[in-house]
Amino acid sequence: MCGIIGVVGSSDTLKILLEGLSRLEYRGYDSAGVALAGAGETWRARTADGTESVAALVEACREAPAHYRAGLGHTRWATHGAPEAVNAHPHFDCSGTVALIHNGIIENHRELREELESRGHQFTSVTDSEVVAHLVEELRHESYELAEALRRALERVRGAFAIAVMDATEPDVIVAARRISPLVVGTAPGVTYLASDVPAILDRATHFYAVDDDEIVRLSPEGFSARGLDGSPVRLRQLAIDWDLETAEKSGYDDFMTKEIEEQPQAVAQTLLDRRDGEGRIVFDELRISDEELRDVRRVVLVAAGTSLHAAHVAKYAIERWARVSVDVDIASEYRYRDPVVEIGTLVIGVSQSGETIDTIQAMREAQRRGARVVAVTNIVDSSIAREADAVVYTRAGLEVSVASTKAYVAQVCALELFALRLAQIRGTLDAPEIERVWGELLVVPERIATALARRDSYASVAAQLLDATTYFYLGRHLGFTTALEGALKLKEISYLHAEGYAGGELKHGPLALIEPGVVVVAITTDPAMREKILSNVAEVKARGASVVAVASDDDETTEAVADFVLRVPSGDPMTSPMVDIVPLQLLAYSLARGMGRNVDRPRNLAKTVTVE
Ligand code: M6R
Repeated sequence: MCGIIGVVGSSDTLKILLEGLSRLEYRGYDSAGVALAGAGETWRARTADGTESVAALVEACREAPAHYRAGLGHTRWATHGAPEAVNAHPHFDCSGTVALIHNGIIENHRELREELESRGHQFTSVTDSEVVAHLVEELRHESYELAEALRRALERVRGAFAIAVMDATEPDVIVAARRISPLVVGTAPGVTYLASDVPAILDRATHFYAVDDDEIVRLSPEGFSARGLDGSPVRLRQLAIDWDLETAEKSGYDDFMTKEIEEQPQAVAQTLLDRRDGEGRIVFDELRISDEELRDVRRVVLVAAGTSLHAAHVAKYAIERWARVSVDVDIASEYRYRDPVVEIGTLVIGVSQSGETIDTIQAMREAQRRGARVVAVTNIVDSSIAREADAVVYTRAGLEVSVASTKAYVAQVCALELFALRLAQIRGTLDAPEIERVWGELLVVPERIATALARRDSYASVAAQLLDATTYFYLGRHLGFTTALEGALKLKEISYLHAEGYAGGELKHGPLALIEPGVVVVAITTDPAMREKILSNVAEVKARGASVVAVASDDDETTEAVADFVLRVPSGDPMTSPMVDIVPLQLLAYSLARGMGRNVDRPRNLAKTVTVE
């Protein structure tokens, strides 16, 4: 789970690499490095400086040669080997002429290392990746040109990779290949780029192309050629990219998390755009699955991880209520290992912001192997799950950079609720006036979120009074439970405080034993049908000395009397409220984390996209 970038043909190689790496830090940031090639020599700098590795790399590159026209850069999230400079990429072969960057895992690295060491190769890191540099070195000695050397080296490798190599003896060529880990190529006149993700080269390239699994590309200043790792001819798919650099940067906000929280009204509004035809039918242009198939669905299984899993929980309530289909929600990393039952009529929905989360990809593949129809719900066009699924529904949240997912979450909930509505329409389980009513409720969600956002100062002032607390329990019932799960995750990941989300009904089955003075309980009381019950939970925790923060709707006149603090949100339909009720909890987590001096965009130990199991 790392970010890679490469460029060949530019007189601005180092600047391109460093700027690109700073935009790839959300893929990992515990170490970083660049290598430049030219005139038969390779120059390299590597740093390991916690969350500031790329900034430290900029310093370390002050003496870099200015005229080298090919280079590779890497920002790392450690898997094999500690986050130290010696394990940072690029890695070299024994002679230092071949340089390599890699995102993924070489599963058989131990046996390859033993074999290479027995032939005299000297390793300088403990990474899995370095073996490939030495394999390429051997093949170069056998006179294979660089692309063929990498292709043959990868025949020896098991695992996942987006990998790129260059050789100082041939400094106008970079070769890259992909299996599982993402890789794109960009072109501009006289310069060719590669990167894990488009934002890294967004301001440089004019055309973008996706490298698919088991493809290898040879980049030169004039452009690129591609083929399959089996040698077969291939043509890279051109990507339609409508992001601008502004989208990929902070747009004046202190951090990406704030920017992305503020963008939530647009994220929902855009996800709703063009979703109804002239006859009132819910439509998804990108959904490649027929109405007949959807009508025949007997069971839905959602697979996802983290925040996407919480969006999947919301979908369960919506699909069961509106479409009357039984729904299971599965943790993606558990699904494939428990021999899941896939009956005829099972529809599996994989939910993933990035579309690259390995657990979700593997769960979806397992479902496909067992005969399920598989739908992807993702924010990234042409991501792995989008390509592999039978059908896809795109959320339109735009690029999300902060590790803590915010706008992607509300867009996921919106897309999944739309999908539930479509299922209900096709199956005839909701009548036209009710569909019209729910559609109307969805349309006002952006406005409700905007109203909540306008109250950011009042949420921050509650946070300011909680800065001494160290333990949080989030309680909710029905959809309030899903909000409790997501609210707790937001707090724990960016503040490092202990926070757990529970269904209110579970309180007496264990967690109540942990309630004592000093503990904060966050209760979601916005659903009138659940309010009385959740307020009973509030009374139970208050009786044991907890402080209570309630997320309460504007029309609620009872919660204020029992809670210590109230985070008000605009009232609305409880089925669409998860997209609104989460806003004060995102901002509460944000204010607490900032108050504690945390780096909210780059929490320790985490990365934006988890591409290893
Ligand atoms: O890209 P995905 O939606 O598949 O990512 C899943 C999780 O890794 C992600 O939601 C993670 O939990 C976030 N950091 C939460 O804010």
